[in-house]
Amino acid sequence: MTGVDQKVAVVTGGAGGIGTAVASTLAARGARVVVADVDGAAARRVADAIVDAGGAAISCPVDVASEASVVEMIGATVDAFGRLDILHNNAAAMGDDVLGRDLDLVEMSVEVWDTTMAVNLRGPMLACKHAIAAMRRSGGGAIVNTASVAAYGGDLQFMAYGASKAGLVNLTKSIATRYGKENIRCNAIAPGMILTPTSRARLGEAGIELFMRHHLTTRVGSPEDIAEAVAYLVSDEAGYVTGHVLYVDGGVTAHLPHFADLYEPVEET
Ligand SMILES: NC(=O)c1ccc[n+]([C@@H]2O[C@H](COP(=O)([O-])OP(=O)(O)OC[C@H]3O[C@@H](n4cnc5c(N)ncnc54)[C@H](O)[C@@H]3O)[C@@H](O)[C@H]2O)c1
Repeated sequence: MTGVDQKVAVVTGGAGGIGTAVASTLAARGARVVVADVDGAAARRVADAIVDAGGAAISCPVDVASEASVVEMIGATVDAFGRLDILHNNAAAMGDDVLGRDLDLVEMSVEVWDTTMAVNLRGPMLACKHAIAAMRRSGGGAIVNTASVAAYGGDLQFMAYGASKAGLVNLTKSIATRYGKENIRCNAIAPGMILTPTSRARLGEAGIELFMRHHLTTRVGSPEDIAEAVAYLVSDEAGYVTGHVLYVDGGVTAHLPHFADLYEPVEET
């Protein structure tokens, strides 16, 4: 068996911009996919679209912040497909109600901090906790946690978000360390700017242009860029890769801060 063919994968936040691309990509490569999301109706639409395209998928409503809900998600996966091989912890609180209020720390409500940690950090921890138990029964597995470039630098806002993603990077390494000898690999992805309906609405065209200036590529990222990276990390071909953080960030973290101010594009002739 190569790639992800016949493997059973759970994608949390599977109804969102990146999660939909990951679920669709894994299914197109032969995985049986559980599209898990707090928006159960949207998750169902994604799973139905995968099935319509000839793939194998079910949907599962889940609140990753709730241990009981995560237990149900893993149980539903094993009930439907008999095993669990892959977990992509992709869900995060990205809406205006949480990330949109994660602004100036002095003004920030503790509730925003707590919800951010509950969804973005406790959620992946809970999913790992219960997925690992199922993966042990399947003889091993592969986990990818979606962190962010925000884990690696300070920002004027989104301090709870950045702290939650930094915590997730460390959790990734600890899980890789503790469970590697049980044939369970754990890696993280650190996306740069990825254009999804959520991020496009938050940034607007001016915001996207600002981010573009700080990326080294000729475009910003797409959900499919992340899907390709996840599909590799969870595949058999990545069998020697664990405890790693893969930046899929258009080089935004690769240069000194003054790059955007100094860079002058070459004039077209
Ligand atoms: N878009 C970017 O530029 C970018 C950059 C860096 C990292 N990321 C990370 O990528 C991941 C996906 O982001 P996205 O841009 O696709 O966002 P999105 O808002 O499109 O998708 C997030 C999904 O998570 C779901 N969700 C939220 N809370 C949940 C909960 N408690 N339980 C289960 N599901 C829940 C939402 O319903 C949504 O479908 C996130 O972890 C985010 O932090 C995104």
